[in-house]
Amino acid sequence: MNTLEIMKDVHWVGAIDWDLRDFHGYSTEKGSTYNAFLVIDKKTTLVDTVKKKFSEELFARIREVNPSGRIDYFVLNHAEMDHTGSLPEVFRAFRPEKIVCSAPCRDAIIEHFGKNDWPFHVVRTGDTLSLGKRTVRFIETKMLHWPDSMFSFLEEDRLLISSDAFGQHFATGERFDDEVDPSELMKQAAKYYANILLPYSGLAAKLLESIKAMGLKIDMIAPDHGLIWRKGVTDILKAYGDWSSQKVLPKAVVAYSTMWDSTTKMAAAVADGLISQGIEVKAADLRGWHRSDVMTELLDSGAFIVGSPTLNNGYLPAVADLLCYARGLKPLGKIGAAFGSYGWGGEAVKLLNEELERMKVELVHQGVRVRYVPTPEDLENCRLMGVEVGRTLRERLGS
Ligand code: FEO
Repeated sequence: MNTLEIMKDVHWVGAIDWDLRDFHGYSTEKGSTYNAFLVIDKKTTLVDTVKKKFSEELFARIREVNPSGRIDYFVLNHAEMDHTGSLPEVFRAFRPEKIVCSAPCRDAIIEHFGKNDWPFHVVRTGDTLSLGKRTVRFIETKMLHWPDSMFSFLEEDRLLISSDAFGQHFATGERFDDEVDPSELMKQAAKYYANILLPYSGLAAKLLESIKAMGLKIDMIAPDHGLIWRKGVTDILKAYGDWSSQKVLPKAVVAYSTMWDSTTKMAAAVADGLISQGIEVKAADLRGWHRSDVMTELLDSGAFIVGSPTLNNGYLPAVADLLCYARGLKPLGKIGAAFGSYGWGGEAVKLLNEELERMKVELVHQGVRVRYVPTPEDLENCRLMGVEVGRTLRERLGS
């Protein structure tokens, strides 16, 4: 099995999940990897494990690079099953002296596996562990992505093993960032942030500040999913700075669904108005767009405009799906509006406005609704709504 020595005596021994297509409602069209690392030192140490169904891959890779056949320490950066599913098997095989993790990680592992007699060694931010020639410094990263998450920094190697943070669901035969298409890599990193870490942006921003204050010199960032950053360390840190501050661009998402294409025509007119103000537009017909791709576009968009016809005194299921998902991910700092057609009743726009306000989207237009089929005048009103949203966004951005 292919392994890779990512730096001297630090081996990638993880697994590639080529087939993963859904991660809790997030479409993972590129698959994923579960990265685990074996550090050969006086105390041979396994940092993280893999999803249960990939245990054999993990064992095979460990066998290939671990002549002693012994593992002294396990370090667990995160308790979620994609990184600990194989833990009971690897524990039985190697019986390590210590399982090093945060206190919430220990508690979660005990609750998941019922193993409170394992040799847990709890660490907190700033604690270190000597492996022999090298020292590991631990940094708790609460809620990135669970309460138990932490980073492990191999000081002498300047290697930050970062668990979910800086990851991408991106299955490749390559292991390093500079071996793949950089725009695809950054797109997958943004998708990961938008769909996993966005709700914890405040904590992510504080973490970036504290890493800066610690003065860590980082040559390589090895997340537990996807490619390892060696050329793009500065780029991914900067991107996380932008994403965690929820910095927005002159960009708008127009997300909608339709029954008989009246709302589609309205969406096109809204987009036209936005474009006239120099706004980059992503018009997403939710019959074809996946909710997680809409979130990726919404990450750096300053405006969120939603359209649906009225159906059964509500709005279409595809729109409800997106709004439910987006509300949980807590995007901030957006302006917005709503639109849609109706035959009778016509509640959708009012309900969409209420939902956008619940999401803390600032409404800058009362919305447009049209009966049955938009007339040229109706479409002009839609276009003017786009103009209004676009102009307001430009003013807010000072551009
Ligand atoms: Fe990759 Fe939160 O687990």
